[in-house]
Amino acid sequence: MTGILTIALSKGRIFKETLPLLAHAGIVPADDPERSRKLILDTNRPDVKLVIIRATDVPTYVQYGAAQVGVAGKDVLMEYGGDGLYEPLDLGIARCRLMVAGPVAAPPPRRRLRIATKYVNTTRRYYAARGEQVEVIKLYGSMELAPLVGLADRIVDVVDTGNTLRANGLEPLEHIADISSRLVVNKAAMKMEHRRIKAFIRQIAEAVEGPRPEEQSS
Ligand code: ATP
Ligand code: PRP
Repeated sequence: MTGILTIALSKGRIFKETLPLLAHAGIVPADDPERSRKLILDTNRPDVKLVIIRATDVPTYVQYGAAQVGVAGKDVLMEYGGDGLYEPLDLGIARCRLMVAGPVAAPPPRRRLRIATKYVNTTRRYYAARGEQVEVIKLYGSMELAPLVGLADRIVDVVDTGNTLRANGLEPLEHIADISSRLVVNKAAMKMEHRRIKAFIRQIAEAVEGPRPEEQSS
């Protein structure tokens, strides 16, 4: 299908930080998802639409071709796994770190560590690679609460400033991965609509890299 280019984005920081990159590619949304309740946003270009979905759903929409391209955090992509997507570009936005954290100065328990996280696959892989047996508890948000109420000994979550951890008496303990958001592309679309998708990737890549020195105005 060479009609509409559909781009999957989550609202909030990814939408905000992707806007200037899209603008560089000549794409300007007609609505602000913070104000509109529309889930499909038109843009200034009749051939480009945005679908606004949960951050964790972006890989699914793109893998199944409901959107040809999308923007997703590396944390989300690591958790999603599989090889159903191309990941051609690190956008360098929404930077943070995926970390193990726990109560400040808490000794490890005598039993198996209990870890609360929404990143269960990544957490299992991380501890398996270290040869540690842990119990992983799936949560959907507010991981920081779990150690405070005795649900878990540790959490695995993204950390940026560390303010959320500090505000809850937690500290970062182990670094799992540096995180930033990536452009993801549906594999079939990459083959069938090669020129158009390649051109889009190139324009976004130029926006990420910034103007070359000879293009900068003095
Ligand atoms: P969902 O709605 O699917 O649960 P979410 O609430 O984690 O997802 P956002 O908070 O918008 O969605 O985060 C989107 C992405 O931004 C995350 O996947 C991560 O890569 C990155 N991110 C999350 N928190 C921060 C932060 N505090 N600073 C910088 N980047 C972050
Ligand atoms: C994210 C994440 C942490 C926090 C880390 O939450 O889940 O709680 O940011 O950032 P910090 O180290 O700068 O405090 P966010 O504020 O995005 O809310 P969310 O739970 O809706 O993702």
